[in-house]
Amino acid sequence: MRFAKRLSAIDISGIRKMFELAKARDVVNLALGEPDFGIPRSAKQAIISALEEDFTHYTPNKGIPELRAAIAEKLRRENGINADEEDIIVTSGASEALHLAILALVEPGDEVLVPSPGFVSYSPLVRLAGGTPVEYPLRESNAFEPRVGDLEERLTERTRLIVVNSPSNPTGAVFSKRTVREIARLAESRGIPLLSDEVYERIIYEGEHHSFARYYAETITVNGFSKSYAMTGLRLGYVHAPGEAIEEMLKIHQYIQASTVSLSQVAALAALERGEEHVREMVERFRQRREIIMEELGSIPGVSCVLPRGAFYAFPNFSSYGSSGELAMALLKHAKVVVTPGTAFGREGEGYLRISFATGEESIREGMRRIRGYLEGG
Ligand SMILES: Cc1ncc(COP(=O)(O)O)c(C=O)c1O
Repeated sequence: MRFAKRLSAIDISGIRKMFELAKARDVVNLALGEPDFGIPRSAKQAIISALEEDFTHYTPNKGIPELRAAIAEKLRRENGINADEEDIIVTSGASEALHLAILALVEPGDEVLVPSPGFVSYSPLVRLAGGTPVEYPLRESNAFEPRVGDLEERLTERTRLIVVNSPSNPTGAVFSKRTVREIARLAESRGIPLLSDEVYERIIYEGEHHSFARYYAETITVNGFSKSYAMTGLRLGYVHAPGEAIEEMLKIHQYIQASTVSLSQVAALAALERGEEHVREMVERFRQRREIIMEELGSIPGVSCVLPRGAFYAFPNFSSYGSSGELAMALLKHAKVVVTPGTAFGREGEGYLRISFATGEESIREGMRRIRGYLEGG
């Protein structure tokens, strides 16, 4: 079979092979990108009731009106975004929302600024659209918040979009209001839209979440239920943008997806309305685990780690122990621990490992004990 050229620009994620190996029984997996909790009880009950009522057909393309109204209300109340339910599409996870935004805006030859280290999907999605990802650095010395100068330096007349992500995967950074406003101002002054991925918005330990769309109307906001409500398998996300952008994205969504899973939509509505306690409990558990990880990392010589203020990842600097890829592979082989090499997230991730704390306390302690043991030569 002959395949489209656009696929030669992207690769199966290099960490996939490691994840396969991670399935062995005696391996501790500290590479998970999803909460290890169930979904809120209210969401489960909503699915059961909807199933019994045969709510299993197509829904409106943009999503059920009750859910869009609840999302719009949430965006107005919590995010200070002047949102209307017509300016929202409910998508198959935030992943689809990112894809819609990039496909709607990026043409062959266009450049898109993406964070480095940053979430693994941004660059491949840009390449699939024929564009060129241009990495801007997030530096440990700046607690992994972007420096506006670093963005500005990389803008050209081909820059079509700037991707931002706070709280951030893989670094756990939560951008200050000042950073958000400065980036919004820069984008507005150049007339470049922002694509703001806010999926970790509810998982914050210190600081506050600031939405870019509050400060710059030409912002496409992507969010979802995977991280906040542990609903990864239900594949439910959404995108909010100015009306004309939503109409363009809807053209794509209607043909590739038609509508999102009906049962996931009622689950999301229930989670928004009655899932708060669940989020609070989950964040509390993550906070305790974060303390364990930070304490363990602190006891390994030559390793520094910025305190993650959000999400559920630590992103320590292991550069004194060699390259990320080799170290991660050695840890898997000799210590039977899976972590993600920083280079999976872009060039600037070299020297770092991503260690997830979306797993039980015992696994975290055991995994860290093994890592320390290996590095000490034991
Ligand atoms: C930053 C970021 N954005 C988007 C996603 C995709 O989320 P979803 O499950 O809603 O597609 C992830 C998942 O790991 C993520 O870390």
